[in-house]
Amino acid sequence: MTSVGIDAIEIHTGKLKLDLAETFAPAMDDAPEKYTKGLGLHASSFPDTYEDIVTMGANAAHRLMERKELEPDDIGRIDVATESAFDHSKPVSTYIAGCLEQVFEGDFHHANKGERKFACVAGTQSIDDAYNWIRAGRNRGRAAIVVATDTALYARDDPGESTQGAGAVAMLIDEDPDLVELSKAQGFGSADETDFLKPQQQFPSVDGKRSVNVYLARMREAMIDYQRVGGDIHPDDFRLGPFHTPFPGMVRKAAVLAYRHIIRDTDIEDALADDIGRQPRPEGFDDEEQYREALSEYTDALKETDRYQEWYDRTINPTLSISRQVGNWYTGSVHVARVSGLKALAEAGEDAVGDQLLVGSYGSGAQAEIHVETIQDGWEAELDALNIDEQLDSRYDLDFEEYEDVHDAHNYDEETAVEEFTAPDSEFVFDGWGRMGERQ
Ligand code: HMG
Repeated sequence: MTSVGIDAIEIHTGKLKLDLAETFAPAMDDAPEKYTKGLGLHASSFPDTYEDIVTMGANAAHRLMERKELEPDDIGRIDVATESAFDHSKPVSTYIAGCLEQVFEGDFHHANKGERKFACVAGTQSIDDAYNWIRAGRNRGRAAIVVATDTALYARDDPGESTQGAGAVAMLIDEDPDLVELSKAQGFGSADETDFLKPQQQFPSVDGKRSVNVYLARMREAMIDYQRVGGDIHPDDFRLGPFHTPFPGMVRKAAVLAYRHIIRDTDIEDALADDIGRQPRPEGFDDEEQYREALSEYTDALKETDRYQEWYDRTINPTLSISRQVGNWYTGSVHVARVSGLKALAEAGEDAVGDQLLVGSYGSGAQAEIHVETIQDGWEAELDALNIDEQLDSRYDLDFEEYEDVHDAHNYDEETAVEEFTAPDSEFVFDGWGRMGERQ
């Protein structure tokens, strides 16, 4: 076995769109720039009334299998990562397999199916499980399908309402992958936190401001842990840095911390001392608070340097373009960031084979994970096959009243009868609990 990683990816976006600048900001009496500049978000995707986590996941997985000309016998494992699950017993992967069995010959009776939960980091954890299964030689030559699918909705008037989203990412994990190989080395930052949780409730209880700080703290720990096992790294080692993106402004904050850690003891740290006219990192403080203040001043100054800005524009910014249009997809979010960055490279006609990605996954509750991926020979063909631009362009643009209704409908409010806004087009649709995932 030479390598293991992601062989192919397909994305399915919820078919409705809430424009944050044009529709949401005026209704909230906010300046549009709060969303477009502050959070870095222009729109969120929403599921139409016939879409849910099963149908979105099944539609992405169906396209993946069809495009890669796979039959159920080629797949030995289906894992779903979600924090929007509706069933405390049956994993969502069984529902998705049931959908796929309607269209492919054969069945998935031989496949190991499961559901992974650790907020948004579960998508990456499912990839890890598949990777380990293949590396252990238990796969008998078969590949794994990982589906990250969520409807990331917050209660109306919660500050999180501007960072909603819905969609699914299906990934094929296999030997000798066409897209990216995964590193063996991983770094973790994990602690019991209560800033974002959903105990027996559909919408999260979230302390938004604290969740931002917890994300940064765990990501910093994961970066330090990665450096312990992955050895010395340099910013120029990485062509892209896809991070978990609840909103692009969050990644803006995380990227500078990651950079500050990566440059430690490199030529860049010395060069920065000249650029910003101060010692690379504050030293000689006995008082913790003074030290933190000095570190924060150093980080602010670092962020403004041309050196950092160029790195950010080259490595981080391309990973954010799809997220700006779709919002937070929870488990799918970091995988959307990977696609977004690779798509930008493909569109610029860059030769990226052998280039590396620094991937930062995160889930509230809370855990961050850092690993490295290496771009493989077949990456351009994989990116060419995506139809995400068409999907984004064909979303139905909700007005505010329609948005309110559809939000209520997804909260299983039986008083709100909402007609569908778009027409299904040869896809799995949700049509009540008795007829889940029927293809129309
Ligand atoms: P908020 O109160 O709506 O917004 O909360 P704000 O007042 O903090 O403003 C947001 C930014 O816009 C700020 O920028 C403002 O300065 C700026 P910052 O200072 O942070 O850089 N701003 C403006 N900029 C330009 N022009 C203007 C303007 N006005 C303001 N006119 C918050 C924001 C993120 C807290 C909220 O949306 C929230 O609670 N979101 C949900 C939680 C979340 O996404 N947390 C992120 C980290 S946790 C995570 O990623 C895990 C998660 O995905 C779940 C999981 O793992 O399962 C959420």
